[in-house]
Amino acid sequence: MSELHWVEETFEKIIKKSEIVAGRNRENIPYSTVNGRFDDMAKSNFCWWTNGFWGGMMWQLYHATNNHLYREIAENNEKILDKNLMEAQGLDHDNGFKWLPTSVANYRLTGNEASKNRALLAANNMAGRFNPAGSFIRAWNDWGESKNTGLAIIDCMMNLPLLYWASKEISDPRFKQIAMLHADTAEKHFIRPDGSVNHIVEFNPETGEYVKSHGGQGYGEGSSWTRGQAWALYGFVLSYIHTKKEQYLDAALRVANYFIENIPDTGLIPVDFRQPKDCTYEDSTAAAIAACGLLEISKQVKEVDRIIYENAATKLIKALAEESCNWDENTDNILEKCTAAFHDKNHEFSIIYGDYFFIEAIWKLTGKELFIW
Ligand code: GLY
Repeated sequence: MSELHWVEETFEKIIKKSEIVAGRNRENIPYSTVNGRFDDMAKSNFCWWTNGFWGGMMWQLYHATNNHLYREIAENNEKILDKNLMEAQGLDHDNGFKWLPTSVANYRLTGNEASKNRALLAANNMAGRFNPAGSFIRAWNDWGESKNTGLAIIDCMMNLPLLYWASKEISDPRFKQIAMLHADTAEKHFIRPDGSVNHIVEFNPETGEYVKSHGGQGYGEGSSWTRGQAWALYGFVLSYIHTKKEQYLDAALRVANYFIENIPDTGLIPVDFRQPKDCTYEDSTAAAIAACGLLEISKQVKEVDRIIYENAATKLIKALAEESCNWDENTDNILEKCTAAFHDKNHEFSIIYGDYFFIEAIWKLTGKELFIW
């Protein structure tokens, strides 16, 4: 990769800002920013699916700098999650998002046995969500009257590495087998012929029969929620990395090629590739996640194709670095213009996993990454 001085500059800006921001966010687990300051999900929603990303960011920063401040904050984030491990209704398909960037990262870096124990508990719970009828890992728990028993979502592909890790760690193939059965189902029912993907697929939980797809956090049924496309292309290449099953690389490439074809000239990513033409909502998280996935794909393809995926990834990250980052040290977040869901009331704000994946992408480009997936 040539002419990447902007990557080094961005790395330095992240390091400079993060030390100040981390120093004033030692005890909390941020989700978003209010008046320039991070909020605290440890107090307001300790089971929230994003509660591992702050710890993950801290481990990436610790790995790159050896500054113990980051390690202490990451360890604190991990301990707060223990309350979640004892809350059955707060555990779901997203266990990977919570315990891979915290406990697994800690265990990989330090060999901490308590961290290994936490991650194995999370993996066991996640594996227990597998529904043999339909061969899928159930998504969310029920929400009051709303029964979610038959729902699977594309996001789950990013959580499967927790199961691959558990299988390898304790030499037990069950976790990997469940992950692969889910990935096979996702390949069959989520990826459309043009390479775009569904967000939610509903199965009959008793018979396993396919019922229908739902638009979920995107514009609507049959649309193309960009973060879902990003979870798919990154998630499938991760399944390929962990299993070497060619079908998963092929799936990742189909989604990646579709994603690349739809990147606007600006490099800035909408919330949904099929949102109405006059709608300008962006989602920087989708761009950052897709860039990370494209960089992983570039390492798995033939040498002649590598450049296609590297160039697409750098286009996305450069656009974010130039247009969507806030380097003001009085503001806690880095990435701006993140959107959780198309039909939410609020759009284009800061979201912690936007910052996490932006940093992960810059770390991949500078060779500083701690691989946590
Ligand atoms: N996993 C939920 C989301 O991407 O918003």
